[in-house]
Amino acid sequence: MKHLIPEFEQMKRRYPEGFEASLVLPCLRRIQEDRGFVAEEDILGVVEYLKVARIQVEEVLSYYTMLRRKPVGRWHLQACRNIACSMRGCDGLVGHLVEKLGIQPGETTADGRFTLSTVECLGSCGTAPVVMVNEAYHEDMDAAKLDQLIEGLR
Ligand code: FES
Repeated sequence: MKHLIPEFEQMKRRYPEGFEASLVLPCLRRIQEDRGFVAEEDILGVVEYLKVARIQVEEVLSYYTMLRRKPVGRWHLQACRNIACSMRGCDGLVGHLVEKLGIQPGETTADGRFTLSTVECLGSCGTAPVVMVNEAYHEDMDAAKLDQLIEGLR
């Protein structure tokens, strides 16, 4: 994380003095972008750098499902399970993925290719059900589309 400190210093200038805790989220996002997840040493680094209590970092990490505490596979499939997606069959899609990939939500395939997660609203309720693959949205999904999508992932 130390190599990111010059960037953190740039971000810090945008915040009034005394509001260092507001930097927890942007710092964690940048760390995840860099490493792929937020490691224990990153948490300790943020605590030390921002001089905040560890609980402040833990709160942000546990609130935002997009922040990860462990590595994910090459392809991270995030299936929305909130109301609109639920009403449009997300449970069936998750079940389909569980069967197809042989893993449960929160797990990664043994070859490291796929991680499956269930998440709260992805903000695309009008095109539910939605599955995110890495940074891309896939909308109006069904089992056949999922199969096609997974076939195309190398
Ligand atoms: S409920 Fe799934 S995108 Fe909003």
